Amino acid sequence: MRILGIETSCDDTSVALFDSESGVAANLVSSQVDLHGHFGGVVPELASRAHLVNLLPLVDFLLDGQEVGLKDLDGVAVTAGPGLIGALLVGLSTGKALCMAADLPLVGIHHIEGHILANGLTAEMVLPAVVLVVSGGHTEIVHMSGIGAYERLGATLDDAAGEAFDKTAKLLGLPYPGGPHIDRLAGRGTPGRFRFPRPLLQESRTVFSFSGLKTAVRQIVDGLPRPLTEQDQADVAWELQEAIVDCLCHRLFQAARRRKTPAVYLAGGVAANGRLRARVTEEAARQGLHFVPPQPVFCTDNAAMIAYAGWHHLRAGHSDPLSLDSFSRAPLSSWK
Ligand code: KG4
Ligand code: ZN
Repeated sequence: MRILGIETSCDDTSVALFDSESGVAANLVSSQVDLHGHFGGVVPELASRAHLVNLLPLVDFLLDGQEVGLKDLDGVAVTAGPGLIGALLVGLSTGKALCMAADLPLVGIHHIEGHILANGLTAEMVLPAVVLVVSGGHTEIVHMSGIGAYERLGATLDDAAGEAFDKTAKLLGLPYPGGPHIDRLAGRGTPGRFRFPRPLLQESRTVFSFSGLKTAVRQIVDGLPRPLTEQDQADVAWELQEAIVDCLCHRLFQAARRRKTPAVYLAGGVAANGRLRARVTEEAARQGLHFVPPQPVFCTDNAAMIAYAGWHHLRAGHSDPLSLDSFSRAPLSSWK
């Protein structure tokens, strides 16, 4: 089966072709970072307009490059939500139009399911598993017993982990999105120069809270002489990353212990973080749990994960009517 994937839930326009015989044939991402970077975050209206301009040329470029026509496809998978509603509507309407034109089945994908299943593009998933979903908009722990069988075990009470990276990076004067910059700078940081809180670490519930970290970082940064040196930035980045990774690892392995799963996984943009991947790899080995880090290109928003999730649904006989609506919010476990 050949599935075209479309992902426009936030600020990346992405299209991909998944072939069930050979895997991901192509995965194109047109980034809007330059457009939004100036504002320090994503401007929803600008994101929708840029998707509108970029999406169809990107689909043409993908199909031409693969020498594939619409008639060679077996279905179109599109992110239906959650995300920015205007941005989602551009992707979903385009997907519907392609399906209508070529008489193809449409399948709407929950963005978080796409992130989780991205692990299957790297290696076959071992289930049941506990998955830590960490992105710019989500931080949650999900128990997965099969495709389509997800139970949310807990989530952040306020900011997502990616937001904590991005907001504190902004305080350090780093460009948007800050996560990759913190990751890079932290490698040169001095352990122990600063100390930030690990919020809710003593709490027995599966919860996270990252909004307080921003205040802790601001207090430290405000007390440093200006301009900040690169060493100051690196030292703050080290401790910030360590505080976030401590909280994420603690909850992930606590949930795996409680649910007695043989495997743990990471999903979402923050899963590209080098320190998080290394710490989870180390701890999983110590506890005898299966863990393979997902390829970084499939961690941040991409359409390959959407096409791949679409293939799972289509081969199980699930498709959606062209009346399918997009949605800005809905937990994965309650979305059908
Ligand atoms: O999954 P994603 O591309 O979009 C959402 O669904 O939100 O995640 C984007 C988030 C941003 O907050 C970005 O800073 C973060 O992922 N991120 C990282 C890294 N790469 C991306 N955070 C920490 N370290 C990284 N290497
Ligand atoms: Zn995402």
